[in-house]
Amino acid sequence: MTQEELFKVLVAHCKEYGFIFPSSEIYDGLAAVYDYGQMGVQLKNNIKNYWWEAMTRLNENIVGIDSCVFMHPKTWVASGHVAAFNDPLIDNRDSKKRYRADVLIEEYLAKIEEKMDKEVAKGKKRFGDAFDEAQFRATNPNVLREKAKYDEIHNRYVKAEQANDLQEYKQIILDAGIVCPISGTANWTDVRQFNLMFSTTMGSTGNPDLDKIYLRPETAQGIFVEYLNVQKTGRMKIPFGIAQIGKAFRNEIVARQFIFRMREFEQMEMEFFVKPGTEMEWFKKWKENRMKWHVNIGMGEENYRFHDHEKLAHYANAATDIEFRFPFGFKELEGIHSRTDFDLGNHQKLSGKKIQYYDPETGESYVPYCVETSIGVDRMCLAVLSHAYAVEKLENGEERVVMRIPAPLAPIKVAVMPLVKKDGLPELAQKVVDELKYDFAYQYDEKDSIGKRYRRQDAIGTPFCVTVDHDSLVDGTVTVRERDTMTQQRVKIEDLRALIDSKVSLTNLLRNL
Ligand code: GAP
Repeated sequence: MTQEELFKVLVAHCKEYGFIFPSSEIYDGLAAVYDYGQMGVQLKNNIKNYWWEAMTRLNENIVGIDSCVFMHPKTWVASGHVAAFNDPLIDNRDSKKRYRADVLIEEYLAKIEEKMDKEVAKGKKRFGDAFDEAQFRATNPNVLREKAKYDEIHNRYVKAEQANDLQEYKQIILDAGIVCPISGTANWTDVRQFNLMFSTTMGSTGNPDLDKIYLRPETAQGIFVEYLNVQKTGRMKIPFGIAQIGKAFRNEIVARQFIFRMREFEQMEMEFFVKPGTEMEWFKKWKENRMKWHVNIGMGEENYRFHDHEKLAHYANAATDIEFRFPFGFKELEGIHSRTDFDLGNHQKLSGKKIQYYDPETGESYVPYCVETSIGVDRMCLAVLSHAYAVEKLENGEERVVMRIPAPLAPIKVAVMPLVKKDGLPELAQKVVDELKYDFAYQYDEKDSIGKRYRRQDAIGTPFCVTVDHDSLVDGTVTVRERDTMTQQRVKIEDLRALIDSKVSLTNLLRNL
């Protein structure tokens, strides 16, 4: 199965097992808007808990808030979103499809990179242990030809991005021979800027311009406008952070990758306020800290990488992404930015309120600098789900679909099943449920054969299945079957809680950080 096919199968699986549904599906759905079902919401909540506790409990100097989606419209003038929260869009006249010009170019460059990697892989196979990758890349004519193509387009693209040169974007697309994947033609319109903010009206002046209000495109501004309140009421001393989880809205031009790019999504953002001049040190610390948080989940260190930004936003003096290996390649999962005093400084200017920190030790007052960590909850769900999905051949020739979701994030931690629906087994199974339900999300299942019940739990990623059988009535033990290894062991009912907890506990995950 190609990665693309696997992705399609994953989307279908997410729907079939209650993780994620297209929004308003009975009306044929709404593009790039998705609902979380009974399994998805628990996965999402577990991810949010892991992030929230890691931020606000493990760091004495980070507190959390919950600000509103609606904010004063001047917020978005100060933040620069009204003027510059744009994507360059381009239409293909034949297919009538709309694309992001920058994404078309980036995908073209990624394809060249793929070609070079394939050449290298062939070389590796041919030369075996004697293979010297650096030398191969520096001398192989096929790689050199692709590299020259890559460098030429890449250099022009970086310059066009920096100069915000929309005409040059189009010229690059034409020169590189990029065609519309639907029509196959290069019949492109000019590139235009498109503002991604959703707006609505609030109030009753009857003048839509006066009443215009935006749905926040990031949660961060809610933190900046509450900076003074939190700092004062919490008696926070710099350096300190404010964390928030909440919805954000963007009218994305291209929204084709399931929950990777949505129009309504959720962010987990933390703004860390520091003394000017110390921001690079904190930027480095937060890069390390956030990578550790990811790797700690256990989805393989090799599936993450940093990608430093070549073009810095006008307010940033350093920026990097943590990328994850999604089924469609390495893509941004989280952004870490050193945002200087841009946001607080602009809110100070536009509101006329003094937003400064008085340092009692030095007697100085200053607008703090800020290092931001920002991750999408939905993208994190996609990372977990796409990494977890596996189809395995069993010894008896059958197949099983198993979601190897890291146990502390799994929606259901344990399934309790009586072997048969009689002989007092359901009653004893209910007692087991009573023993476990205060600590773990569980399912009780007595329908179908045990094999079928195991398959159902594998498909939603339940780490443990507990079967109550006739021996259980005699000796008070049950069979515990583990999802990944499918191994089974007899365990006393009173020991179940500790055994399950040792694998699924969020506390243990946090302790490892
Ligand atoms: N406050 C900074 C900020 O919003 P961003 O890079 O635009 O930065 C941060 O977004 C994170 O939010 C991304 O790394 C991604 O995980 C998530 N995100 C952004 N746009 C998204 C979308 N349309 N759908 C889902 N997640 C999105």
